[in-house]
Amino acid sequence: MLNYLWIPLLISLSKHLPTSVNAKSTFNSTLLLTSSEFGQLSPGCPAPEPNLNYRPVIGILTHPGDGASGRLNNNSNASYIAASYVKFVEAAGARVIPLIYNEPKQNFDHKLNLINGVLFTGGWAKSGRYYEVAKYVFQKVLKKNDEGDHFPLVAICLGFELLTMIISQDMNILEQFSAADSASTLDFMQNINFHGTVFQRFPPDLLKKMSTDCLVMQNHNWGISPGKLQENSNLCGFFKILTTCSDDNDKVYVSTVQAHNYPVTAFQWHPEKNAFEWGLSMIPHSEDAVQVTQYVANFFVSEARKSLSRPPASEVLDNLIYNYSPTYCGKAGKGYDEVYIFT
Ligand SMILES: *[C@@H]1O[C@H](CO)[C@@H](O)[C@H](O)[C@H]1NC(C)=O
Ligand SMILES: *[C@@H]1O[C@H](CO)[C@@H](O)[C@H](O)[C@H]1NC(C)=O
Ligand SMILES: *[C@@H]1O[C@H](CO)[C@@H](O)[C@H](O)[C@H]1NC(C)=O
Repeated sequence: MLNYLWIPLLISLSKHLPTSVNAKSTFNSTLLLTSSEFGQLSPGCPAPEPNLNYRPVIGILTHPGDGASGRLNNNSNASYIAASYVKFVEAAGARVIPLIYNEPKQNFDHKLNLINGVLFTGGWAKSGRYYEVAKYVFQKVLKKNDEGDHFPLVAICLGFELLTMIISQDMNILEQFSAADSASTLDFMQNINFHGTVFQRFPPDLLKKMSTDCLVMQNHNWGISPGKLQENSNLCGFFKILTTCSDDNDKVYVSTVQAHNYPVTAFQWHPEKNAFEWGLSMIPHSEDAVQVTQYVANFFVSEARKSLSRPPASEVLDNLIYNYSPTYCGKAGKGYDEVYIFT
């Protein structure tokens, strides 16, 4: 009986093996471990694409506070990154360097030269030093791209709102919406070419489900309507609208945008929460919803692999987020599950 089961299994497995790798070594895990330890590719493994950077590093901008309403740290200079953003990046094959928004400019600038892309997180801070630093980083992102590196920026929720303010040069451009702790569908714009956008690599059936099932998490009170975005020449010159959503009162807001000429993508929704946050009641956790997290993360890191800046490895190691430990704060039953705090 056992033999009958195994034979077709082995045959079907061997069909998928590259012809130059023999089946015996594939099934010998000792051998596999040994060769990967030395970082050597067996003769049968195709060489990686030489034009890609397989060790991308993403900078995540910290946000003021402790991420836990003072339960963890009341220092006025504290800032944090919710660990879900870090996991989101790591799950797609990149490492993270925290860009601590209030650290001395020299350190901050040094870190900007160690990374291959930037993530702006959710939060609430829209003024003062945090706003200025976000604007500074955004300008650096444009500059790096203008100088020939492919240097992506993904901006989520507050990040989307900050880019809206920075690009429009209008601190009052945001409008109020009612979309706290709610899951929604995405309404895809008609006649939009998704080539080169985050949605290009989504399987068509998942894209279709996103327009009918509540697979994306919303948690915001601000946003911008499509009309207001289109009216602002700076904004519509920079971004094209990929999706919109409707809030609790059926008011329509822009939910995903992609820059026309830069690898800059902004989400009013939270791609990272589906897989990695549990404190808000409405976060979708279905297999489809978790795949949404994964496809967005894969898109972001695939963009960062096109950044060919390869700084000295030791300087990267000195600054990685692995030099810090996250704190579990999800026991309070609200907010983020884990946060990294920087003081
Ligand atoms: C697997 O490979 C290792 C290293 O070549 C060898 O020492 C070991 O005997 C092999 N094991 C089996 C089960 O073939
Ligand atoms: C921060 O301040 C609040 C209000 O005074 C207090 O309840 C809380 O325990 C403080 N947090 C810490 C970590 O000390
Ligand atoms: C933040 O404040 C703490 C305690 O007040 C201090 O030890 C630390 O050096 C400060 N950090 C920064 C970056 O200013």
